[in-house]
Amino acid sequence: MKILFATSEAQPFAASGGLADVAGSLPKALVKEGCDCSVIMPYYIKTVSDELKAKLTFVTEFYVPVGWRSQYCGVFKAVVSGVTYYLLDNHYYFNRDFGIYGYYDDAERFAFFSRAVLETVQRLGDIPDIINSNDWQCALVPVYYNIYYRFHHDMRSIKNVFTIHNIQYQGQYGFELLEDVLSIPRHMSRLVEYDGNINFMKGAIEVADKVTTVSPTYAGEILDPWFSHGLDRALNTKQFKTCGFLNGIDTDMYNPSTDKAIAANFSVGKKAGKAACKSALLEKAGLPEDDAPLLGMISRMVEHKGFDLIKAVFDDIVNMGFKVVILGSGDSEYEEFFTEAKARFPERVSFTCGYIPALAKQIYAGADLFLMPSKSEPCGLAQMISLRYGTIPIVRATGGLKDSIVDYGEDMGTGFTFQTYNAHDMLEAIQRACDCYDDPKAWGALVTRAMKADFSWKQSAKLYIGLYEELCNIE
Ligand code: GLC
Repeated sequence: MKILFATSEAQPFAASGGLADVAGSLPKALVKEGCDCSVIMPYYIKTVSDELKAKLTFVTEFYVPVGWRSQYCGVFKAVVSGVTYYLLDNHYYFNRDFGIYGYYDDAERFAFFSRAVLETVQRLGDIPDIINSNDWQCALVPVYYNIYYRFHHDMRSIKNVFTIHNIQYQGQYGFELLEDVLSIPRHMSRLVEYDGNINFMKGAIEVADKVTTVSPTYAGEILDPWFSHGLDRALNTKQFKTCGFLNGIDTDMYNPSTDKAIAANFSVGKKAGKAACKSALLEKAGLPEDDAPLLGMISRMVEHKGFDLIKAVFDDIVNMGFKVVILGSGDSEYEEFFTEAKARFPERVSFTCGYIPALAKQIYAGADLFLMPSKSEPCGLAQMISLRYGTIPIVRATGGLKDSIVDYGEDMGTGFTFQTYNAHDMLEAIQRACDCYDDPKAWGALVTRAMKADFSWKQSAKLYIGLYEELCNIE
C-alpha cells in the first residue's frame, strides 16, 4: 500500500509541536509494517538544518495555480530513516524569518501547499492509494482533490484521510478569499462554508473518506461543544466516518538507555542512572540537592494546558514540599508568573522561557513527576515520553491523557489523574503523588510499571493500516 502523508511540519526537518513528532514517527512505523509511506511538506528554507539540506536532491519543478496567479513549486527529495520526504519549495511562501506559521498570508501559503501536494502526485505519476492530510494547514488537500483531481483517470482511485491533531486551529477566513486566493469556484463554496465564514477544517471533514483524530477519547469529546471550538455540528453528521487512534512516540528518539542528551543512561533493569539525571538537572536548574520530589513541566504556556489551575494553587504545590522545574513559553501572563515565582522561591523553582530540546529530555529524565493538567488534550506526547523515562505523570483525565494514563491504585496504574477541571482536584492528585513518593517501595514499583508501558507506534500503526486497507477495498 502506498501512502502519502501531507503535513505542514515533520521531524527532523521542521517542528513547532506534537504534529512534527507524529509526522516524523508514524510514517517510519508504517514503513516498518511493510507500507510504502512518504511524507510531503513545505521546504522552510530558514528552518531546515544545513546537514539535512545537503541530503536533499532536486526532483522537478512546475507552476501551481493560486487563484489567478501561477506560483513556482520546486520538489526536493531526501530519504531519512527509511522514509522518503518530499519538500516543496517556494521562496516567496516559505523563506520567512520568524518561524513556520503566524503570517498575514497563512491561508494563501497553505492553500498553495495543499494544491502543490496534488500537483506533485500528478506530475510524478507516483499515485498513492491514500493521502493522509493533517490539521487545517493541509485540510484543503481533500477539498482540492474533490474539486479538481478526482475525475483525473490516474488519480481517481486515491482515498483521502484527514487527521485532526488539534481542533482549536481550523483555518477560518473571510469569504473574500474564496476564488481569488483559494481557487474554490463560487458554486462549490458550500464545501468550505461554516457559520458564514470559510473554514478549511470543515471542508476536510465534509469531503474526506475518513476523519481520524489522535485518541479515541478525543474523537468522542469533539462531538461536544465544550471541546469542539464550534465544529461539533459538522462532526456530528459525519460520525460514520470518524474515529480516533492513540498516537505513539518515537522510541528511538526517546530512549533513556541510549539518549546522549541526558547525564546518565538508565533502563527498567538498571535504574541507577535516573538519580544521576536528577542531580544533574537540579544543578543545571540552580536548585540545591535534597530528597524533595521534583516536579517537571514542559508546555506551551496557554490556558488550555491548565496554567490557570497551576497559577491558582502554585504556592500550595511548592509548600507541599516540591521542587519545580518548568520549561516553556507562551502567554506573557504565565511567563511573568513563573519569572516571579522563581524570584520568590529561588531554592525551589526554576523556569526557563523558551523551548530547548536537550533540556526537555533532561527534565523528562531527571524529574520524579510530570504535571499536565490540560483542559483538553487531543493526545499529548509528553506524558508518554515521561513514562518512558520513569517520570510519573499527573494528568487531567481528558483526551489522550485519559487513554494513556491509568490512575494509581494498589499494584496498578502508571500515574495520578483527576477528573474535574478544578485546581483543588488537581492539588488532591498531586498530594496523592506526594504520598506515594514518600513510600519508596510503592514508588519503585510504580516507576517500573511506568517504564514498562508500551507507547511505541506498533499498535497504532496497525490501526491506521487497517483503516487504509478498508478504504482501498471500497470501489
Ligand atoms: C497537537 C495536540 C497534541 C497531540 C499532537 C500530536 O499538538 O495538541 O495533544 O499530541 O498534536 O498529535
